[in-house]
Amino acid sequence: MRTAATEAGIAIERAGSFAAPDMKALGIDIGGSAVKGAPVDTRTGRLLAERIRIATPVQLSPLQMGRTIAKIVAEFKWRGPIGVGFPGVVYGSKILTSANLHPKFLGCDMGTILSKALHRRVALLNDAAAAGLAEMKFGAGRGFAGKTLLLTLGTGVGSVLAYHGTVVPCEFGHLPHEGKSYEKFVAASVREREGLTWKKWGKRLDNYLSVLEQILWPQLIIIGGGVSAKHEKFFPCLKTRARLRPAEFFNQAGIVGAALWAAESKR
Ligand code: BGC
Repeated sequence: MRTAATEAGIAIERAGSFAAPDMKALGIDIGGSAVKGAPVDTRTGRLLAERIRIATPVQLSPLQMGRTIAKIVAEFKWRGPIGVGFPGVVYGSKILTSANLHPKFLGCDMGTILSKALHRRVALLNDAAAAGLAEMKFGAGRGFAGKTLLLTLGTGVGSVLAYHGTVVPCEFGHLPHEGKSYEKFVAASVREREGLTWKKWGKRLDNYLSVLEQILWPQLIIIGGGVSAKHEKFFPCLKTRARLRPAEFFNQAGIVGAALWAAESKR
């Protein structure tokens, strides 16, 4: 079985590979408030060491981000493949959007910056795509081939669709709502910032999911991000047609999926 990048999306598994996959890779997850990383066993999705988390209270430029990731790589004395999940649109090695990070990321060639900072090729992908890879392969979506929508609720809203083994990065967090992106109403960070009760926030999320269901018709919806650990507080507010499941990797899906992507990209 093998994984390969395709133009339409990211195929999780494809039969008929001859190359042996890398079994360990370092996964890095760039978030709105921290950068996290850990080595991952890509055959099981398990972390091989406790993750390192570097808080980023001040927005880092792309070069500073490269140096921060280099610290994590050095800390683990890592020499193998590295995958990096980024919270914006990733087009090849370039970043096209960066809603919650430094504006200097816009249009920057992050793949090249990271390769220079880490002295090797780095596999770059959208952070929600990373979470989708991890959850569909080892987590809440494993074994399910039907249409799945996975949302990560954190600083922003990440989204992917998965179908028959292919994970497609999307940007449903930026659907327009009352003149803004929908993520400005339903991200987990908004609940905290506005001091919303779980019920009030849950109702907002339910409205958002009903809009997404009208156009996407998923059979399964997976809710990820740190907030998935508290799903019993807001799942009762969600009246989706689709089956609803909390992510199993909570906020570690980004690390695991970035590592999977790195291992696969080496082949
Ligand atoms: C970005 C997405 C990202 C999500 C979660 C959004 O603002 O546009 O690309 O996946 O935040 O980090």
